[in-house]
Amino acid sequence: MGDPGVDRRSVLEGAGVALAAGTLGYVGFVALGPAPEQDDDSSGKGPDGDGEDSHFLAAVDDIPDGGGVVLSDDKLVLTRDGNSVRCFTAVCTHEGCIVAAVEDGQIRCPCHGSAFDAATGAVVRGPASEPLEPEEIEITDDGEVLRA
Ligand code: FES
Repeated sequence: MGDPGVDRRSVLEGAGVALAAGTLGYVGFVALGPAPEQDDDSSGKGPDGDGEDSHFLAAVDDIPDGGGVVLSDDKLVLTRDGNSVRCFTAVCTHEGCIVAAVEDGQIRCPCHGSAFDAATGAVVRGPASEPLEPEEIEITDDGEVLRA
């Protein structure tokens, strides 16, 4: 870790694994969850192709430090704590609403009041009983968060 040669983009895999990402020094945490894997067959699943391809999600600077942003189209929520950016599914594990906000270190669902830890996705308050699944992201040395 800390290899100065890694300066184009850092891809972080595995829960809790962090790497310094290039010259900006952003640190991202990415966990590979059991995300549903759709194959390249385009055999009718997901006509919107929601989120399989790598694409720009947000600039790190546009994610409030200590808060986060909900990307409704991608059904993802990005949270930031200093230089650490994390990504989770925005689909509440209770009944599938899209979470609405990240406040006070919690990702909050507007439907029935569930709250999840912004750093881990763990349930802070029910009725949800399962955590938000982490999603894989990449952070470029330009400070862009990409869907991996
Ligand atoms: S769907 Fe989120 S709390 Fe019920």
